[in-house]
Amino acid sequence: MSTLKTRGALISDMQPRDLSHHVAYEAGRGIEEVARELGLDPEGLIKLSSNENAFGPAPKAVEAIREYAPKVHSYPKSSAADLRERLGERFGVDTGQIWLANGGDGALDYLGRAMLRPGDDVLVPTPGFAYYGMSARYHHGDVTEYPIRKSEGFEQSAAAVLESYDGERIVYLTSPHNPTGSEISKDDVETVAERTADETLVVVDEAYGEYSETPSAIPLVGERDDVAVIRTFSKAYGLAGLRLGYAVVPDAWADAYARVNTPFAASEIACRAGLAALDDDDHVEKTVETAAWGREYISENLECRTWDSAGNFVLCEVGDGESITADAQRKGVIVRDTTSFGLPECVRITCGTRSETKRAVEVLNGLI
Ligand SMILES: Cc1ncc(COP(=O)(O)O)c(C=O)c1O
Repeated sequence: MSTLKTRGALISDMQPRDLSHHVAYEAGRGIEEVARELGLDPEGLIKLSSNENAFGPAPKAVEAIREYAPKVHSYPKSSAADLRERLGERFGVDTGQIWLANGGDGALDYLGRAMLRPGDDVLVPTPGFAYYGMSARYHHGDVTEYPIRKSEGFEQSAAAVLESYDGERIVYLTSPHNPTGSEISKDDVETVAERTADETLVVVDEAYGEYSETPSAIPLVGERDDVAVIRTFSKAYGLAGLRLGYAVVPDAWADAYARVNTPFAASEIACRAGLAALDDDDHVEKTVETAAWGREYISENLECRTWDSAGNFVLCEVGDGESITADAQRKGVIVRDTTSFGLPECVRITCGTRSETKRAVEVLNGLI
């Protein structure tokens, strides 16, 4: 037996592999959690900390979920194929080039599974979305970083990425970028792809792409074999709790999907809801319009420095992000402290409904 008992504690030879470089994902806090902790009524709280859709799920998706609920005892059937086909038509790519997954996060994992060999490096933005590095490490990759500099207004450019590039296997670009809201142009994406090694994949994360007017990088996927794009149903379609996202990948290696796909990871309900949400134009339009209004309202009315954003959120320099977040919570407004992004002087405010956004600005102005 390899298990020793010393002073009541079990010491076992059986341990996970070395996870000391792995970090836990810090999600925005939920209404219930905050209400319970502060002894507040959850009804009175506004959650603007996770870039969720202020209008809830697309109503057509809710209908599809209800309709299919009595049949979830069966394994998923054809809706994943239907959704892949629909998305392929929408973006002018083959069905096989759409890799459905359990959220955009799942799509990042699939690219890691397909591409990374043990010890491969990936290049990620800092500040940036924590899951790029996490996912790479799960797949035995090492992480290096390129800066998106506050001193340069968080502007993104090919030159800034290439300055840090050193032959990594995957380069992650985020447009619109979380948490800064900045974008990288399709031309710059192409330049990064051009100037990096043939074996380097450029992954453009467009989780907030629907909110932006900048052209998507998806057309590059049709032209090159080294650019993939991530999209999600979590944001503009309001399906974050269902977990549905996808990668759009080049035709040259699209068939790797069958070898990396966890069976049924994109569930039947998720795919049916996704199909319905794609038809719910009113919901997306209202969502995108209100986010655009919210960005402008926050930048014009919040009494601190903000940065232009193309997403459904705005980064705001409030002073002490942690204490302002705690104080705002006590007043019923949950925003995201960006300390974990390396920006302790800022918070990120998700654009809510008009009245939620106004209330958030009022509360924060009282605290800044
Ligand atoms: C930049 C970025 N990429 C990807 C995701 C993943 O989204 P999901 O896994 O919900 O599709 C998020 C979620 O917040 C994000 O901010």
